[in-house]
Amino acid sequence: MTSFWSIWVVVLTLACLAIVFGLLVWNLTNYAGVEEGESCGHEFDGIEELNNPLPKWWTYMFFATFIWAVYYLAAYPGLGNWEGLGNWTSSNQGIKSLAESKQAVIDAKAAGKTVQLDVEMRKAEEKFGPLFESFAKRDIKDLATDEQALEIGQRLFSQNCAQCHGSDARGYQGFPDLTDNDWLYGGSPAQIKETLMNGRIAQMPPWGDALGEQGVKEMTAFVLSLSGRKVNQKDANAGEAKFAMCSACHGADGKGSLAHNLPFGAPNLTDKVWLYGGSQRAVEETLVKGRAGVMPAWKDILGEDKVHIISAYVYSLSNSK
Ligand code: HEC
Ligand code: HEC
Repeated sequence: MTSFWSIWVVVLTLACLAIVFGLLVWNLTNYAGVEEGESCGHEFDGIEELNNPLPKWWTYMFFATFIWAVYYLAAYPGLGNWEGLGNWTSSNQGIKSLAESKQAVIDAKAAGKTVQLDVEMRKAEEKFGPLFESFAKRDIKDLATDEQALEIGQRLFSQNCAQCHGSDARGYQGFPDLTDNDWLYGGSPAQIKETLMNGRIAQMPPWGDALGEQGVKEMTAFVLSLSGRKVNQKDANAGEAKFAMCSACHGADGKGSLAHNLPFGAPNLTDKVWLYGGSQRAVEETLVKGRAGVMPAWKDILGEDKVHIISAYVYSLSNSK
């Protein structure tokens, strides 16, 4: 904030506090010239105005909030550019990336500040660290039968994964269902953990230019025929003739990367499970524009111990106990 706006904020805030305080004191003074509880001499339609003071409990509460406001403004940053006497910082104002956030914590601590995020993380670390460590030593399959680990895993999932995969982990268009035992990158404990640790970036190139409008129509017919849909057989045959351009990733049989031990995450086209939708329109759109789903990497955000626990939770979703 520039000093002009800082002063602006400070003056307005303090003036406001002073006025409010003045009003309160003024209201506590008896200006009416009559005893408390007596009539002030005004009467409207038979209703008389008595000289009643403010209720005591209300007055004390008002004073308490006032004292709290002054303490808070003095101790914490926020009043313009005032940094606060408590040397406190949330450290993350205006921060846009994880790296910046970590650097801000380091800088603030070096400047002798109390970093709220850091305090909370340390407390959580003390409380849960040993538990997480003991979980981290256990096999994911074994962990996937541990009620407590699954409960923690589910909570971590709600906080970090549900916005994309849904709170029930069933996914949405473009975000895979994690409960159906149908995998892009594999459902073994090691494969799941690898997906979570390092993330996955899918690259389905656009084919609109290479295939042309008619070509897209034909290829769509062939793709739909793979999962047993009724299509125009002539179109499908024409599509099949060009499927070589797809087989590097989806396999010559269209069963997807995983079936051929390839790392691309290209879905199985022969089942009825669709990531982007199995209507003719959706498949055409996939072919014309390509698709590039991004699963973020969690290694640096959550750390390996937590990823291990979430992996067990994800594993448990499609491998019932
Ligand atoms: C920003 C959205 C987003 C968030 C947040 C997210 N994911 Fe994903 N995830 C995706 C997308 C998109 C894919 C599919 C990538 C692709 O298209 O190949 C994916 C793929 C996966 C896969 C692979 C599924 C398969 O079939 O192989 C797993 C497992 C997974 N996510 C678990 C998680 C977990 C656990 C979390 C939380 C720690 C998480 N995801 C958070 C978007 C997200
Ligand atoms: C370079 C590898 C690659 C090639 C080549 C490729 N694909 Fe894909 N395809 C992918 C990947 C990866 C995805 C998953 C995209 C995502 O998850 O965002 C995908 C997704 C799809 C989907 C969506 C499936 C669903 O479940 O919604 C269809 C349909 C598809 N591809 C058809 C084709 C066809 C037809 C061709 C040939 C013209 C082709 N692909 C060529 C990698 C490839």
